[in-house]
Amino acid sequence: MNTKQPPTSLIMLFGATGDLAMRKLYPSLFRLYRKGKINEHFAVIGVARRPLTQEQYQANIMDSVQSALENVKLDDLKRFATHFYYHSHDVSDTESYADLKRIAEEMDKKYQLQGNRLFYMAMAPEFFGLISNHLKSSGLTDTKGYKRVIIEKPFGHDFESAQELNNMIRNSFEEDEIYRIDHYLGKEMVQNIEVIRFSNAMFEPLWNNRYISNIQITSSETLGVEERGRYYDKSGALKDMFQNHMMQILALLAMEPPISLTTEEIRSEKVRVLRSLRAYSDEELAENFVRGQYGPGTAGSESLPSYREEPMVDEQSNTETYVAGKLKIDNFRWAGVPFYIRTGKRMATKSTKIVVQFKDIPMNLYYNPQEELNPNLLVIHIQPDEGITLHLNVKKSGKNGTTPIRLNYCNKSSDKMNTPEAYEKLLFDSMVGDTTNFTHWDEVALSWKFVDAIARIWKENPEPDFPNYASGSMGPAKADELLEKDGNMWWPIEDFEIESC
Ligand code: BG6
Repeated sequence: MNTKQPPTSLIMLFGATGDLAMRKLYPSLFRLYRKGKINEHFAVIGVARRPLTQEQYQANIMDSVQSALENVKLDDLKRFATHFYYHSHDVSDTESYADLKRIAEEMDKKYQLQGNRLFYMAMAPEFFGLISNHLKSSGLTDTKGYKRVIIEKPFGHDFESAQELNNMIRNSFEEDEIYRIDHYLGKEMVQNIEVIRFSNAMFEPLWNNRYISNIQITSSETLGVEERGRYYDKSGALKDMFQNHMMQILALLAMEPPISLTTEEIRSEKVRVLRSLRAYSDEELAENFVRGQYGPGTAGSESLPSYREEPMVDEQSNTETYVAGKLKIDNFRWAGVPFYIRTGKRMATKSTKIVVQFKDIPMNLYYNPQEELNPNLLVIHIQPDEGITLHLNVKKSGKNGTTPIRLNYCNKSSDKMNTPEAYEKLLFDSMVGDTTNFTHWDEVALSWKFVDAIARIWKENPEPDFPNYASGSMGPAKADELLEKDGNMWWPIEDFEIESC
């Protein structure tokens, strides 16, 4: 892998007019271009069904970049847009792949791309298998450079469908050529979890069941399902967020130190975490997992509809928009430490945070019946603020007794302009051939198996109390009870924002 020379690549983007391409992919490519991380040796063939002229497509690219980024120099943007070509394409039409092959060869010569090809599937997942078969049979994957495929989520909707999809893709690509996107793995502070853990003498020795009481992972959103009711109503929070993003964060928090930072070593440690997850019985699943669905509510002066009133959602829908769970990892390091995970839509705040709660000290010398000593917390702020906070206790100034304080580190303020976007990093990684921050099939398979058991019992037992949390709240009361049973509570992450960030 050579990360010094800007990588060369022909990106064939299926879903070129879609939301993801417009909101994330084009601006991310432009950021890479502006920073010189990719240079003139790249080209994009945008593929989608609708007819567009070259000029219209390039104008779309420019719009997308300008609406996402500030301080864009028009000359740079114009030069950037000349690297984009459009092909109106029917994914099931064999002839059309022959056209794509011809265009790819022309681009290859024109931009000296050394036959390097990246096929990006940013469209409805039912076509992934079909497209990858055609890529092979048309000879598009038969190239002298690298061939890689980037797959957007969802990667299947359960273990079986994921396996079927994987088998289809494997007909055309090897495992190490498959880049399954989990955009949380591209987030700066998710990538920071390993660094915080493995480069600080004060954390790693304490990172186990002797010193940690519990770990809480929250990803809350204020938005509802927006325009995605059709997809979401079949998916729900468990499959949309928990199976992928949340379980990936869990694996990074709980894994053993890898023997080196190679992709293989990191992945194999993450896989071991997923293998050590306690497989609950049906009764235990019902006890340890809580689902929620948002009802009407308010955000400031705005009134918000219930989930069942959203467009393209069944009026009787039993789909969960919130999930909270208590997971156990059965290994020496974590035996007895609960990992509490929650994620949901239409909650009080848009925030992703990890709270590591340390055990209480053996005795409190400063005991005061009015004031309990707070446990030490390490908070990892993933978004919107990025940083870490340590919650400690110190002496009350000028008085006896203790007072809680927070030591903050804000990741953004040190380099405000340059925190790369998740997609920017992942696109670059895929061009230089680094699969570390993509999900391996073994991780996908294990996390689906874990989630399938929960989905099954939820399907068999529809929740009678939906909707059970108000839009704009922090979720259903049962999720609080889940922690109260253990003598714990969700830390109020809505008050934990780093102000200076
Ligand atoms: C996506 C989910 O994977 O992640 C969406 O499909 C969700 O439903 C989104 O809104 C959240 O991503 P982020 O980066 O805004 O936390």
